[in-house]
Amino acid sequence: MNTNFPINKIHNIKTPFYYYDSGLLRNTLNIIDKERNKYNNYCLHYAIKANSNPKILKIISQYGFGADCVSGGEIQAAIDAGFPVSKIVYAGVGKSDWEINLGLDNDISCFNVESLAELEVINNLASKHNKIANIAFRINPNIGAHTHANITTGLAENKFGIAMDDLEAIIEKAKRLKNISIIGLHFHIGSQILDMSDFKALCNRVNDIQDKLEQLGIILKNINVGGGLGINYEHPDEEPIPNFAEYFSTYAKHLRLRTGQKVHFELGRSVVGQCGTLITRLLYVKEGSFKKFAIVDAGMTDLIRPALYHAYHKIENISSSQETEVYDVVGPICESSDVFAKSVEINKCHRGDIIAIRSAGAYGEVMASQYNCRELPKGYITEEL
Ligand code: LLP
Repeated sequence: MNTNFPINKIHNIKTPFYYYDSGLLRNTLNIIDKERNKYNNYCLHYAIKANSNPKILKIISQYGFGADCVSGGEIQAAIDAGFPVSKIVYAGVGKSDWEINLGLDNDISCFNVESLAELEVINNLASKHNKIANIAFRINPNIGAHTHANITTGLAENKFGIAMDDLEAIIEKAKRLKNISIIGLHFHIGSQILDMSDFKALCNRVNDIQDKLEQLGIILKNINVGGGLGINYEHPDEEPIPNFAEYFSTYAKHLRLRTGQKVHFELGRSVVGQCGTLITRLLYVKEGSFKKFAIVDAGMTDLIRPALYHAYHKIENISSSQETEVYDVVGPICESSDVFAKSVEINKCHRGDIIAIRSAGAYGEVMASQYNCRELPKGYITEEL
């Protein structure tokens, strides 16, 4: 655990809860800012879905980011946190009418459209508002990413986006709709991607599509490449900030842009992942002849990633410096999958010890549930402790 961790201040707080290191978040945002400023055509959006805690959103909105939203609730959360509506983009395969209306009422910058059926509904609702809706087509680039099968999104079999073969026909139809203005193309191949060759493959695909569109006389203003940059779950203290320099330069190197085109990014995990820790208290050590369980008061209701994706999160006993022992770290929920880690080495555990589950800033608190009639975990930032 890094030395900034305010261990003395957290003892009286009811567990489990999320602790957000606002210093690390700000450092991360400063690095992103520095790296993106090397390019004059990069526009950054924060993917609200990764963490929509209002305190986190407030900090991020101060760094000039736009917001990438996937629901009306997220659009509202972004507006409430101070993200400018002129930088809000809205994606999702199933947009309800009230959500589209909310976007239109607030003049958001772009609807990322995923089907012809949706396009027609947006056109109808926009005409009722007497407005022109800006749209980008989300294209399914049929590219596999080296990540968990449940969080890859850009394969033909996934529900997301419009198939490349259908693009030409859909653009022709869109041109005839009076309340639609086509301003871009949108892509997102998946999440927790560490292999830059996946992003390079996306660039090559975008280049091919742009070449085809150009032959039809179509050049669009925005190329939105989504998000997906991963973080180092194994060694959060060695690599607290992802390699944004490499990430941004991969796109600069491989994307062939037309004059005046802008590249939009939708970063989620890489912005907030490392600044969050789930803090939990050790309830019992259950020692059988077969296994030793460390039973903690957080469960899959607080952090579902290990149960849902077999995701790895580093676990530390920050109350103990005794020799390590091997435990299965499990929660109190009545599900066998309520396991944070199997056979991990952590410092010898005692009832009452504080256990830190690291790299939990993204897709942690936002995915919490109240299953088993549990309370939702609270989130605190450094200044509040
Ligand atoms: N843009 C779109 C269209 C997306 O679907 C996503 C994430 C992002 C951007 C942000 O991706 P990021 O930069 O965070 O990788 N719950 C899963 C992750 C789901 C990601 C969903 N889409 C997890 O816990 O790993």
